[in-house]
Amino acid sequence: MKSSKKVLGIVASPHNSGNTATLVNEVLKGAEERGYEPDLKCLGDLEIYPLITDASDKPYGVEGPRDDMTSIYSSLEKMDALVLGTPIYYDHVSARAKIFIDRLIYYNKESTKNRFPKNVPAIIVIAYEWNKPDAYGSVVEWIKHTLEAYFKMKVVASLHAENTVKNPVANREDLLKKAREIGRNLS
Ligand SMILES: Cc1cc2nc3c(=O)[nH]c(=O)nc-3n(C[C@H](O)[C@H](O)[C@H](O)COP(=O)(O)O)c2cc1C
Repeated sequence: MKSSKKVLGIVASPHNSGNTATLVNEVLKGAEERGYEPDLKCLGDLEIYPLITDASDKPYGVEGPRDDMTSIYSSLEKMDALVLGTPIYYDHVSARAKIFIDRLIYYNKESTKNRFPKNVPAIIVIAYEWNKPDAYGSVVEWIKHTLEAYFKMKVVASLHAENTVKNPVANREDLLKKAREIGRNLS
């Protein structure tokens, strides 16, 4: 019997119960209703460091330090769908989100590149204080481009949560419902 499909949720915020985490969790709940098994990784719980130099690793001369990214690689290699959530920090993704993405260069290596699953549907979640719906579209576009151009994923939906400081997403049934719906739409 084939094991169930897996949806990997990445929360690139230090708050495991914050706005980003709440929405990523709701998307996972929706996906669960479609038979996906959720695999949630809160990057705030993990020690994941930036790339370090390795002159022997041509052509970029970088490698990943030995850290908790190992458990993320293992989840990435099993995923059938990805939900990537990040707060907006100074008009871009959080440093945790950027380091997570930089560390995907692991799959650029000839020896590992076939381990990254192909054509995986992805959902992007962003949360930010600015009370402007649809702000930071350029950040969503940047994440989409990165996932699609470099990792052959297909971004199928994105969710923006604005005004999160005055109006945290946990109190917003409309957003929570939208998040679950996005999860349910995963085929
Ligand atoms: C370092 C830092 C930088 C931030 N920069 C922005 C920003 O540029 N624009 C914005 O609207 N909110 C900004 N915020 C607010 C966060 O995006 C907002 O609080 C978000 O909901 C945090 O998500 P979380 O609850 O998942 O951690 C910033 C917060 C921090 C801590």
